[in-house]
Formats: sequence, C-alpha cells, structure tokens
Amino acid sequence: MEQTLSIIKPDAVKKGVIGKIADRFESNGLRIAAMKKIQLDTKTAGAFYAIHAERPFFGELVEFMTSGPVVVMVLEGENAMSKNRDLMGATNPKEAAAGTIRADFAESIDANAVHGSDSLENAANEIQFFFSKEEVI
Ligand code: CMP
Repeated sequence: MEQTLSIIKPDAVKKGVIGKIADRFESNGLRIAAMKKIQLDTKTAGAFYAIHAERPFFGELVEFMTSGPVVVMVLEGENAMSKNRDLMGATNPKEAAAGTIRADFAESIDANAVHGSDSLENAANEIQFFFSKEEVI
C-alpha cells in the first residue's frame, strides 16, 4: 500500500469545499489515514517548499500558503501517489482536465486548491514533515 501527502490549500478551505475534495479521494479508493487543519507560518511553509526556494514564484507561494488554514492529509491506497495526481489535474487549473479537482475548484496556478506529492521519495518526506508515526492510522 502506497501513501502520499495531500494539502487542501487556503483557497479551497475558504470556499468550503474540504468535504467535496475529501470525497473525491474516498470515492476513488484512497483512504484518509491522517488529517488535520492547521495554519502554516512563513517559516514552516518556506521549509515545506524549500525545493522551490530559488524559483521566482517562491515568495508568492509562501505568502499564499500562509494566507489561511490548510488541511493536510495522508492518503493511502494502491498507486496512491499517482492516483492523487490524476485526481488533482494539472498544476495550472487552466490546463487541468475536466472533472479533476483543480478544474472544478481552483482559481489560478497559485490558488490551485490542492498540493500532492510528486514522487514516492517526496511523499515519505512530506508525510514526515507534518505527521508523527502515531498520527498515521
Ligand atoms: P504545488 O503542487 O503546491 O507545488 C508548488 C506550487 O507552486 C504549485 O503547486 C503552484 O501552486 C505554485 N506555482 C506558482 N507558479 C508556478 C509555476 N510557474 N510552476 C509551478 N508551480 C507554480
């Protein structure tokens, strides 16, 4: 069984679609093994997205991710990492296929509703970043 990290971003939390997004995962064979709503601070958001520190959009990304609460989740299931990415759709909602989470709930490349780990190695690191072993059940 694979595990991956999902974040429901501040835009989707503000819109009140936490339940609708969680339903996409559960209806498609992904079990929610851990879930919490948190407010990221600049230091934590910057550390989580450290891989993007040199990218021109880093400042805006951190500002956006700290603009309101997020919901972090561990999703578990067969091919959980790639299945989650299929359900999310393309990073830029304008390019996201119809019926994907980003096509249905996202506004822009910054306010793009969800984050999902992009490799199994990153998934393991990102899960550890937010959750202790005891919290993933
Ligand atoms: P996410 O999957 O959370 O990973 C990094 C985020 O940076 C990405 O989703 C986008 O919301 C944001 N971002 C902003 N501009 C870009 C860009 N040009 N390319 C990739 N990601 C971007």
